[in-house]
Amino acid sequence: MINNRFLKACRREPVDRTPVWFMRQAGRYMAEYQRIRAKHGILDVCKTPDLAAEVTLQPIERFDLDAAIIFADILLPLEPMGLQLTFREEEGPVILNPVRHQDDVTRLRRVERDAFRFSSDAVTLTNEALAGRVPLIGFAGAPFTLASYAIEGGSSRNYLNTKHMMFGRPDQWHALLRKLSDVVVTYLENQIRAGVHAVQIFDSWVGCLSPVDYDEYVLPHVKSVIDRLKPEGIPIIYFGTGTSTLLPLMRSAGSDVLGLDWHVELDEAWARVGFDVAVQGNLDPVVLFAPLPEIERRIKDILDKAGNRAGHIFNLGHGILPKTPVDHVESAIGFVHKYSTR
Ligand code: CP3
Repeated sequence: MINNRFLKACRREPVDRTPVWFMRQAGRYMAEYQRIRAKHGILDVCKTPDLAAEVTLQPIERFDLDAAIIFADILLPLEPMGLQLTFREEEGPVILNPVRHQDDVTRLRRVERDAFRFSSDAVTLTNEALAGRVPLIGFAGAPFTLASYAIEGGSSRNYLNTKHMMFGRPDQWHALLRKLSDVVVTYLENQIRAGVHAVQIFDSWVGCLSPVDYDEYVLPHVKSVIDRLKPEGIPIIYFGTGTSTLLPLMRSAGSDVLGLDWHVELDEAWARVGFDVAVQGNLDPVVLFAPLPEIERRIKDILDKAGNRAGHIFNLGHGILPKTPVDHVESAIGFVHKYSTR
């Protein structure tokens, strides 16, 4: 690997400057991405290895980033389980046959690795094009966040149906999360064997839970996913938002890196989870819309809080937003370089 700052930081080894990449770094804020999306639906892009590889490379060609993330979506593994996934223009993802009853859980299919051929092919093509310039990150949704889409049938505000199953039918809930965990492991193992250098598990919406409920209904499943992936020997990042009160429990799931959102101060959160785990974050994505001096000030602040300690990966606290000014993204990366070069 020509640039392995990111992988070193995942392992808390010293680096010459803080590695930086952005969640959703390939996306609608880039004209190059929009040109592809004008001709192809989101699912087509994800499932056509040439297109997925091309889109993955777009931010790498344009910016001085320290990692690529394979272009895909966390909801893809739900399809071979038997759930019908579509994306609607305003609404985002929709599951046409959501999981609500015992029968719905029972009929969900186990998935073999062959079902994810599109994903391993995309990884292979992307690594060929990257030629070792930067590491490639694979990813999957975490069992809870996937369950929330499977049960609600799409995005949700209060997770009413999800919690209804969790609190009312814990047996059904745990059976569903076990099935989802198995698929997540298969999907990630497939990406790892195809050549991704690290994986991130997105538990984007887990912040809607209390620590007690997280501990009982979610943690055992995330732990089982991480335990099964550990022998693969590559760094595992575990990320969620709205997680300030959950972080110590999330830490105990056993990932190498914990993702932090912007509701916490990086130094305080890192001290709380312990400096024996790497952290990734945590600029508010909306800060990238602010004037450059304000972006600079806030990036410097995060890097000051990381204090040159080994094991910090600079990122946003959540995905980059559509309409983010591209020149601000470029400047932000420059500010990370400016304030973190040792
Ligand atoms: O980081 C990257 O560059 C890789 C790309 C990536 C996508 N989805 C492509 C995508 C990643 C990491 C994801 C993960 C994902 N997908 C998550 C977890 C991350 C997060 O943001 O919390 C979630 C919750 C999903 C489900 C999903 N997919 C939603 C809610 C949406 C609609 C969002 C919207 O703003 O419309 C999608 C569609 C999607 N997946 C887009 C992208 C770039 C945007 C839609 C498009 O191009 O039409």
